[in-house]
Amino acid sequence: MQDKGTFYITTPIYYPSGQMTIGHTYTTVAADTMTRFKRLTGHKAYFLTGTDEHGQKIERRAQETGVPPQQFVDGIVEDTKKLWQLMNIEYDDFIRTTDERHMTIVQRIFRQLYDQGDIYKGAYEGQYCAQCEAFWTQTQLKEGSLCPDCSRPTELVKEESYFFRMSKYQDWLIDYIKNNPDFIQPPSRANEMLHNFLLPGLQDLSVSRTTFKWGVPVDFDPNHIIYVWIDALSNYITALGYGTEDDSLFRTFWPANVQLVGKEIVRFHTIYWPIMLKALGLPLPKQVFGHGWLLFNNDKMSKSKGNVVYPAPVVKRYGADALRYYLMREMLFGSDGNYTNQAMMTRVNSDLANDLGNLLSRTVAMIEKYFDGATPQPKAYLEEDRALITLLEALPQKVEQEMNALQFSQALSEIWKVIGECNRYIDLTLPWVLGRTGEGKERLSTVLYVLAESLRYVTLLISPVMPTTPEKIYEQLGIADENLKTWESLDTFGQLPAGLKVQKGAAIFPRIDIKVDLPLLEEENAQAIAAGKAQPEPEKEPDVLATIEDFQKIKLRTAKVLACEKVEKSDKLLKFRLKVGQEERTVLSGIAQHYKPEDLIGRTLVLLANLPPRKIRGVESQGMLLCAANEDDSVLKLLTVDEGMPDGADIS
Ligand code: MSP
Repeated sequence: MQDKGTFYITTPIYYPSGQMTIGHTYTTVAADTMTRFKRLTGHKAYFLTGTDEHGQKIERRAQETGVPPQQFVDGIVEDTKKLWQLMNIEYDDFIRTTDERHMTIVQRIFRQLYDQGDIYKGAYEGQYCAQCEAFWTQTQLKEGSLCPDCSRPTELVKEESYFFRMSKYQDWLIDYIKNNPDFIQPPSRANEMLHNFLLPGLQDLSVSRTTFKWGVPVDFDPNHIIYVWIDALSNYITALGYGTEDDSLFRTFWPANVQLVGKEIVRFHTIYWPIMLKALGLPLPKQVFGHGWLLFNNDKMSKSKGNVVYPAPVVKRYGADALRYYLMREMLFGSDGNYTNQAMMTRVNSDLANDLGNLLSRTVAMIEKYFDGATPQPKAYLEEDRALITLLEALPQKVEQEMNALQFSQALSEIWKVIGECNRYIDLTLPWVLGRTGEGKERLSTVLYVLAESLRYVTLLISPVMPTTPEKIYEQLGIADENLKTWESLDTFGQLPAGLKVQKGAAIFPRIDIKVDLPLLEEENAQAIAAGKAQPEPEKEPDVLATIEDFQKIKLRTAKVLACEKVEKSDKLLKFRLKVGQEERTVLSGIAQHYKPEDLIGRTLVLLANLPPRKIRGVESQGMLLCAANEDDSVLKLLTVDEGMPDGADIS
């Protein structure tokens, strides 16, 4: 593949003052999606995220919890990394501002700026918001001296401080922003910076504190702690080894191509950060993108208001891909949007379970039914085929254009328009009618080939947003060849070979029963808020040693499936009639999304036979069938025994 150059993307480094919410997840998923997209299209991408661990707020939170600050942040960082793993976030580096590699260079940067006269010592007096760790001018404060960001009361603080001479760079920055319209995106945020902050005149920025200890000391004046923004912003270059002997990453990847930030910190990234870089003689990032907020009932999420949403309960139920899709699809990147579990479920049902899921299952089922499960060879393309093929061939470029502008939602919308067209193509070509005659079957071979090849296009294009779904689709379509999973393979339609063995599998996105699930999910989130902890992993039960006597209490028997059917009005339940030696039993099992009932008849399974009977949906279930499942239950298989074992046999 042609090398398209490097791509460096960053997220803000998050405060580990509490567990990461769906808001932090939003930025991180966007960065991960972009990284995956750039890799897919031939770039050498580097993705940095991390945590901003110093400052008074963290120091106080640690005190409240009764542990030293380092121990406090270590715990949250560990949970954060687990959460990113759960979300399938593949960062290249995770920088912590408490890393030695970071702290040494921050001290050096501070000293250099001081030595060259950009930083000077003075005294600061101003209204300070301890929550946001920001000083505000009288004109910025809300009525009643309230913080303009969090609306909490500010306090008058006077202290000796080092200052960064921001005013010196003001005119240069105004020109820079005006001459580089892509630097701050979306453009409305550039206007806001110019009109609200730069044109009225920049004040010098206080860059040290003497009122707390948890931070990087100024090495030549250790009473002073380097105040949060110099410490925090430097992470984007310290992580690349800037200022160290091995600065090859820095030389390869700086300046960043895009730095993602929430709208509340655009100011720091488009005023203080460029000025810092200019003073250090370094190039500016090519773009800072200020995205909007995920709101909860039109209000900013906040732990203190108890209206945060944690991602783990959602992922546990529906998988990371469903949540990633929803986050990237629902809101325009740049604008605010509400998060609700109900809207998420509705979208998963309509876009993933219906539009994409049904397209796949219908296509595979028809190839199985009419062509013995082997992708047919297409015949001549008719107009309706060519119309769809034209859309597909134009799709990668459209997606690329939207993705390069970080318009994730638009990119997905383009893909789903084509998925909609594929479903309409089925309605138009009426495959089940074609399948009735020999002549029709000729035509059907083209129709089903076009659908399978269309699915291949779509699958590759969704892969940056949904990294685990593609393999499930490829498996059903029988696509194993890695050459069919490259960006180049979308150049021309028709690269899918005929004769691939398709295989119908479980629904890739089972339909969510919103009425049943919504209250459960809300309850799980409420529990996470109450515990002050969203658990990416369930707390591990300590290993309990089972004695042989314990094990002997359990009666496991082989059981032969005499009959099996779906339970009416349930997406999950299958009802089994089992023969267990001399007796017959009825057992319900929640595996309908993983098996077709007719495939199970005649199989010999493993039954937990001495479980007290339980009524489920009015039917008495007399035992439990054993299964193995992966963490999120996306892969689930029944336990069976080797052939030749009669039913009713003891398992020990
Ligand atoms: N530590 C600073 C950033 C320093 S960067 C040099 C900070 N941290 S934070 O923990 O408050 O994280 C803020 C970032 O998290 C936001 O800029 C945004 O990217 C993301 N979000 C947190 N909550 C959010 C929403 N509710 N909605 C969207 N993004 C939000 O600020």
